[in-house]
Amino acid sequence: MFDFDRVIERRGTHSSKWDKMAALSGIDAPDAIPMWVADMDFAAPPGVTQALTAEVARGVHGYYADTGSWAAAMAEWVGRRHGLKVDPAWVSPTPGIVSGLGLILQAVSEPGDEVVVFPPAYHAFRRIIVSNNRKILDAQLVERNGRYVMDLDALRKALTPRSKVVFLCSPHNPGGNVWSADELRALAAICIERDLILVSDEIHNDLVFAGRKHVPTLTAAPEVADRLVTCVAATKTFNLAGAHVGACFTANKDIKKRLDARIMASGLGSYNRFGMIATEAAWRTGEAWLDALVPYLQKSRDLFDARIEAAAPGARSMRLDATYLAWVDFSRTGLSADEVSARVAKRARIYASPGPQFGPGGEGWLRFNFALPRSLLNEALGRLEDAFSDLRR
Ligand SMILES: Cc1ncc(COP(=O)(O)O)c(C=O)c1O
Repeated sequence: MFDFDRVIERRGTHSSKWDKMAALSGIDAPDAIPMWVADMDFAAPPGVTQALTAEVARGVHGYYADTGSWAAAMAEWVGRRHGLKVDPAWVSPTPGIVSGLGLILQAVSEPGDEVVVFPPAYHAFRRIIVSNNRKILDAQLVERNGRYVMDLDALRKALTPRSKVVFLCSPHNPGGNVWSADELRALAAICIERDLILVSDEIHNDLVFAGRKHVPTLTAAPEVADRLVTCVAATKTFNLAGAHVGACFTANKDIKKRLDARIMASGLGSYNRFGMIATEAAWRTGEAWLDALVPYLQKSRDLFDARIEAAAPGARSMRLDATYLAWVDFSRTGLSADEVSARVAKRARIYASPGPQFGPGGEGWLRFNFALPRSLLNEALGRLEDAFSDLRR
């Protein structure tokens, strides 16, 4: 019903993933394959295309008004998919989650304050903290039985009176953890004890594989509701990253007021019409598409993990509970990190995200986005097998 195998030419379409690859990576081969930034090479759900087509056919694209039905669509979606009760009145639309994170920081902290992140973690967290003149407080994740866990004792010791905010990525990127309710409750307890605002970025919440279930932080730890801001979006789930619309919500009226004040101060209280239409249509019509996508991605994950580990003996792909971003440790292949990167870029002509982008703990790792049509994924895996063939002799 949904054709994720269809190869759609994206070169020359203002695609960041394809058209910025050469400039960013130096890989200028015409057959280079981008496996870096987190968007998928699949067409959006048909209901989204229909809604945008209707808008285009109308031909008038003036200012967007009344976010009520958009917020209601989001609330219905998270209610149905995640059992989360969100009052649409809690919701602030933002031009994407990363900009939402910056606005939240401005609303709840001061320059010089410390913001906790759990590296290796989504690189934009670091960028947005630093560019808002706040300080990064790294709470290093530790690997236990092949999965990341938070070291909350170390975090407790590292916190200072300047620590004000925690950026949690749930599910985690990279590493793909679905955090358990116990893990979330333990973190929430520290936030309460040390008077921290918890920002739970749940943008990957819908991309969870069979046998695992995303637990919203608000559900796991309702006791933290008063100091919690949750961020969700249709953009990652339904491959609409260019729509640049996110939803930040909090039950705390004062935080909501301060966040809305920052949104107004930046002139962001008027919304991108195309983005709002696309994301509302996705939440309202995209369910069958998503239910077909996740098993497709799960099969790609299994294929990717098996073949990369066979291709480069010693390499280990962290078992993902969620996300289409394979996180691969090459440090035990006997090759230096530079050598691995050079082979992937030059021999395989693949641009993967360099591990150190994700902060401490990323050295020796690469992140591969496997949300490609299966034929392209097979081509990429074949090239990786060639790039490391000498290791298998
Ligand atoms: C954890 C996380 N948050 C936010 C984003 C991006 O959000 P946006 O495009 O809405 O700014 C990503 C994209 O990969 C992500 O992985």
